[in-house]
Amino acid sequence: MENKTRVGVLFGGKSTEHEVSIASAKNVIRAIDKEKYDVVLIGMDKKGNWYLNEAYQDFLDKTAEGKMKEAIGAGFGERVFIVPNEQAAGQLIRLSDGQQLETIDVFYPVLHGPFGEDGTVQGMLKLLNVPYVGADVLGTAVGMDKDIMKKLLIAEGIPVGDYICLMHYNKDDFSYENIVDRLGLPVFVKPSNAGSSVGISKVRTKEEYETAIEEAFKYDNKVLIEAFIDGREIECAVLGNEFPKASVLGEIVPSHDFYSYDAKYLDDKGAALMIPAPLDEALTARIRKIAVQAFQALCHEGLGRVDFFLTKTNEIYIIEINSMPGFTNISMYPQLWAATGVSQTELVDKLIQLGIQRFERDQNLQVE
Ligand SMILES: Nc1ncnc2c1ncn2[C@@H]1O[C@H](COP(=O)(O)OP(=O)(O)O)[C@@H](O)[C@H]1O
Ligand SMILES: [Mg+2]
Repeated sequence: MENKTRVGVLFGGKSTEHEVSIASAKNVIRAIDKEKYDVVLIGMDKKGNWYLNEAYQDFLDKTAEGKMKEAIGAGFGERVFIVPNEQAAGQLIRLSDGQQLETIDVFYPVLHGPFGEDGTVQGMLKLLNVPYVGADVLGTAVGMDKDIMKKLLIAEGIPVGDYICLMHYNKDDFSYENIVDRLGLPVFVKPSNAGSSVGISKVRTKEEYETAIEEAFKYDNKVLIEAFIDGREIECAVLGNEFPKASVLGEIVPSHDFYSYDAKYLDDKGAALMIPAPLDEALTARIRKIAVQAFQALCHEGLGRVDFFLTKTNEIYIIEINSMPGFTNISMYPQLWAATGVSQTELVDKLIQLGIQRFERDQNLQVE
């Protein structure tokens, strides 16, 4: 069948969420409607090299889990790169001999964290003039940096918890005692740019504080110290470009001290997901409305998952937005849409089409 749209799925990547990306990519690849789309798999290794992974049939065969694991290793296959192609598509080139391979009509960067979900890959694809799924350069960049994200939300009048931002140049201005005076205990210490709870600590003592700061600065030059918010964790999936829609809400009930990396991905019983979240109608409507407001304030298009805390007195705080939320078997984003009546196949189709529509809209902008 000719005229299928060719989707280049980018997965793996340089961030600490490399493995999570692979788990997400498996589901995205399975969910892509193969009648409508051809799938080209491009694995990125931890150094950022691109490989054309031709073993994708293995992903589709659910009985071949073991084989699949091996095949999806991101440093697998021929090294490739892309160059612009006059038909608003990316031309894949084989690195070894310069051979022209497929053209890619639309990229789907199933990449989480820095170097994938932060405007870097988006900037490269934008320069190459090829459509891609998800928020643009600015949206993904502000979505990645929790400090900038909070500043934009504050400007929009959307509540976020109190926090202090430490940089290398001011970190000695704040003593542990200052911090506790202002924020109380416990506090959360986290890299401003990271994800999947990597580098995050819940701190109750001076000793823990010092270790936590050191740990967080391993991942970023900017570290946030946040007041502990005692509340229920509520998440909302958002989908769309100019007129985004909010899904039903989900609630996460971690069985660990907080929703850590282990609770998210390593421990089967690390967290219970409740979909829909048991909340009354008025509160649900309020949170869904704020989710869309935040999505727009944070310059998002395509998709995003907005995460909240809801306190006992019904105060609503945004904790973060995720520009390329997880799509693993246990991830909220696809489950929230499924509960709203959008199957994974429909969801992935919509996301690809939204990427193409955004591209076509922006092609009409005057550039000179
Ligand atoms: N200020 C806070 N108060 C209470 N819990 C928090 C706070 N910040 C983070 N957490 C806990 O840590 C988890 C991960 O934090 P988050 O800011 O969402 O980082 P990531 O981008 O890595 O998911 C949250 O889901 C929550 O369980
Ligand atoms: Mg989070």
